[in-house]
Amino acid sequence: MVELFNTRKFMIKVEKLTKIFPGSGAKAVEDVSFTLEKGEIGCIIGTSGCGKTTTLKMINRLIEPTEGQIFVDENHSHTVDPISWRRKIGYVVQKAGLLPHMTVKQNISLLSTILEKDQSYITRRVRELMSIINLPYDEYQERYPSELSGGQQQRVGIARALMEDPPIMLMDEPFGALDPVTRNSLHSEFWDLNQKLHKTILIVTHDLTEAFKLGDLVILMDQGKIVQKGSKEDFLKRPANKFVEEFVKGEGLV
Ligand SMILES: Nc1ncnc2c1ncn2[C@@H]1O[C@H](COP(=O)(O)OP(=O)(O)O)[C@@H](O)[C@H]1O
Ligand SMILES: [Mg+2]
Repeated sequence: MVELFNTRKFMIKVEKLTKIFPGSGAKAVEDVSFTLEKGEIGCIIGTSGCGKTTTLKMINRLIEPTEGQIFVDENHSHTVDPISWRRKIGYVVQKAGLLPHMTVKQNISLLSTILEKDQSYITRRVRELMSIINLPYDEYQERYPSELSGGQQQRVGIARALMEDPPIMLMDEPFGALDPVTRNSLHSEFWDLNQKLHKTILIVTHDLTEAFKLGDLVILMDQGKIVQKGSKEDFLKRPANKFVEEFVKGEGLV
């Protein structure tokens, strides 16, 4: 335990995370370990069903790991209650997960409303975030999710996770519903934004181009396990095995 706290300052560290869902013989996630330093972006990539969402949910403590350790900002998950733990973490759920009966403004400010922040703060912060996600406040704040495109809903999901300015963001396929052009421009905006915000971000994606573009650390999973983790260069120049080589080729990157 002690040597962990003498290593470089990490924001997210998972060690040998494993999840077996009750009633299932298979390991949905097996022996997953990685570290993200403060301000780094990690991208978990892999085909559908390989354990990406389960890994993210364990870090946010929505799913209890069967085995393994999770540390956030140098705290062990066993030492912090789940509510305080989640205050540090903005979670962007797959498919945006907006509440259909609430307006854009109400969705974005949900957590602040629960925390009973005052209205002037809420309006100021929602305005600021809506300008960041490129949805003009006056035009969009009173709309309902059904009145937005899939990509706009995803942007609102990102703004909601940023509302209370958490140091960590966990994002489950946040750019998945966007067309390639919008996705590309949002990637660049997002990257620029994080140069200012310095958040530690873990993004789940099934798009290797996205992972290579955004990730300081790229984590490729298959059938619950990490096949390779490293930089874009590591993947291109030093693929761990045939599977990685094929995966990278299959995405048309080589
Ligand atoms: N609540 C659950 N109960 C049982 N099995 C689950 C549950 N959630 C996910 N799984 C299974 O765990 C595996 C990994 O799922 P998931 O993490 O959602 O994959 P991904 O996000 O990579 O598509 C899949 O085989 C899935 O069917
Ligand atoms: Mg998923």
